[in-house]
Amino acid sequence: MEKRLRDIAEEARRSLDSVSSLAELDEIRVRFLGKKGELTRVLRKMGMVPAEERPRIGQLANEVRDVIEKSLAGRIEAVKERVKEERLRQEGIDVTLPGLPVTRGRKHPITLVTEEIAGFFLGLGYSIAEGPEIELDYYNFEALNIPKDHPARDMQDTFFIEPEILLRTHTSPVQVRAMEKATPALPVKIIAPGRVYRRDDDATHSPMFHQVEGLVVDRHIALSDLKGTLDLFARKMFGIGIHTRFRPSYFPFTEPSLEVDISCVMCGGDGCRVCSSTGWLEILGSGMVHPRVLEMSGYNSEEVTGFAFGLGVERIAMLKYGIDDMRLLFENDLRFLQQF
Ligand code: PHE
Repeated sequence: MEKRLRDIAEEARRSLDSVSSLAELDEIRVRFLGKKGELTRVLRKMGMVPAEERPRIGQLANEVRDVIEKSLAGRIEAVKERVKEERLRQEGIDVTLPGLPVTRGRKHPITLVTEEIAGFFLGLGYSIAEGPEIELDYYNFEALNIPKDHPARDMQDTFFIEPEILLRTHTSPVQVRAMEKATPALPVKIIAPGRVYRRDDDATHSPMFHQVEGLVVDRHIALSDLKGTLDLFARKMFGIGIHTRFRPSYFPFTEPSLEVDISCVMCGGDGCRVCSSTGWLEILGSGMVHPRVLEMSGYNSEEVTGFAFGLGVERIAMLKYGIDDMRLLFENDLRFLQQF
């Protein structure tokens, strides 16, 4: 029995020398130390050992188990360490290798134009306001003096989510939100760039497009402030030599309302295809904030006045860069986008 125990220790040692994986190590553990393993089998026969020998044999058996367990544990550690090193070597990153070139991206023309517009107005002391694209009927229409049965709603048909919730058709609801937030403080002087939606789709209309809204409310704001501001704006965007023309128009939320034209950027005013031989291009809608809108937003229309304007960013971009089809702006063709 004593010899058998020493043999087991020797066998285990030899088997352990040649293993290289955790699975093999486990097999060895089961083979020698398991319930039906070599050592257990020997110990079952303890009964056959004379009583006076038992303590010595028992102690020897324990020693053999200890030795096997210790060398098993040692091997497991060694194998784990090797596997880890192997993995580290394979996954290693050489931080000294030169990087892969990433071609520099560029801004979309809509972003470029929006930033240029914002830059101009920020320079005049305006701040930027925002509102939700999913808007309440109240802010998009009602509070802008466009009640449910008003014909002006037809020109701004849109996508309704619920009867009272829709995709905003213009950035003008931000006027109302900005005034509600500011009242009774003065002045209110904001621009609001953002996406708007309409049921429209052709070479000059997209169901989603971008606008920049502007609003100034204070004491003594006059039509001349509107004209001076927008004339300066047009010349900043299109060049110092450009002329502006203010035409009477109609919006339910401004009174009076004005459409702003610039002299044609293509022909300089002589008349061409782009300006339909008129010499003028319409660039934005504007007007003096309607007293009813001021009142609904919390201001006393006896004491304050204001002007507002709204322009289409796509339209400005098309005129500025000579783009003849609005859809080009949304197709994400790099050959087009890389020109800006
Ligand atoms: N919201 C108007 C439109 O989208 C433009 C506008 C804004 C007109 C502000 C007047 C004042 O057509």
